Amino acid sequence: MTIILGIESTAHTFGVGIVKNEKILSNVKRTYTTEKGGIIPLEAAKHHQQNKNEIYFEALEIANIKEKEIDAIAFSQGPGLAPCLLEGMSFAKELSKKLNKPLVPVNHCIAHLEIGKLTKARDPVMLYASGANTQIIAYEAGKYRIFGETLDIGVGNFIDTFARYAGIGFPGGPAIERLAKESKAPQVYPEKSSSKISTKGNYIELPYKVKGMDIALSGILTNLKQKLESEKYILKDLAYSMQETVFAMLVETAERALAHTGKKELLLGGGVACNSRLHEMCKIMCKERGAKFFCPERPLLVDNAAMIAFLGEIMFKSSKDDPEGPSGIKENDLNKIDILPRQRTDDVEVTWKKKTL
Ligand code: ATP
Ligand code: FE2
Repeated sequence: MTIILGIESTAHTFGVGIVKNEKILSNVKRTYTTEKGGIIPLEAAKHHQQNKNEIYFEALEIANIKEKEIDAIAFSQGPGLAPCLLEGMSFAKELSKKLNKPLVPVNHCIAHLEIGKLTKARDPVMLYASGANTQIIAYEAGKYRIFGETLDIGVGNFIDTFARYAGIGFPGGPAIERLAKESKAPQVYPEKSSSKISTKGNYIELPYKVKGMDIALSGILTNLKQKLESEKYILKDLAYSMQETVFAMLVETAERALAHTGKKELLLGGGVACNSRLHEMCKIMCKERGAKFFCPERPLLVDNAAMIAFLGEIMFKSSKDDPEGPSGIKENDLNKIDILPRQRTDDVEVTWKKKTL
């Protein structure tokens, strides 16, 4: 029996989650939000600092466990905003010293992917669409390989930036989804430029930027801003058209990765995967290709600490059983462990997976 406590603090969310034998016992979080404007890293870090103790004790209470029952403390080491990461790491180190238990440094993006294991997907192509990241990933030869990605901004940040520009606070994704649903197609519907575009709303042509396996979003953002400023279009229709265009780009690249790798499963991850229209489009594509579609539950899609504890447990167990398992855990010299704000998904040796595939 192993009990792992996980700490998440890469950006806007501070969370503590507890996992026992791959079962989530608690997943408590608090998110720094703004009415207007984006995240100010130092403010978000202050939010984490002020909330960490309360969240920690709440997570213990919900899980109904005592501090001394914890076997290891996993925390998000990167990528993320340095002041926020530091807050999480110092809390993790504090607990590690107090409880005399090892630290397990975890890559945040890989945690978003590994939690997909709960869906029973075995060897999927993953569409990881979150705030800062947008990547098409598949596991091959010891690493999560990036088959395609955004060349500029992450799709969540893209949506949030437009939402902020339109005066709808942060995060923008859920508000944009609501608005898009209210867009109505005109009575006489004009010809559509792509078969992936739904005819339910009023589609306004936007640039479509797929370059090989990669996508680019900043040009579309500028175009959307110009259209909004021109006052010729209503926000609902722009929200709808944005979703249709950008999600079609994601689905197209994901489909190409499925074709390239020969894999038969698509797994969604990251906060943007909460979007029901993205689900719908992915399901249509999977059905057409004879692939299976998987997506974790919503609380596990956005930033959360249960996914950190979940991956922490896998890494902790594998470091105990396997001499080549993740390093750093066994030595556990706290002075040598630091944050990695720019760590990339394909920097990480996924030593624990070789046995399961
Ligand atoms: P990263 O994981 O890359 O560091 P992050 O941690 O900021 O980024 P997540 O918490 O995984 O990202 O996701 C947050 C993003 O998800 C925000 O940009 C938010 O607007 C977006 N999002 C949440 N719900 C929806 C939705 N229903 N539709 C579209 N986007 C959504
Ligand atoms: Fe995230």
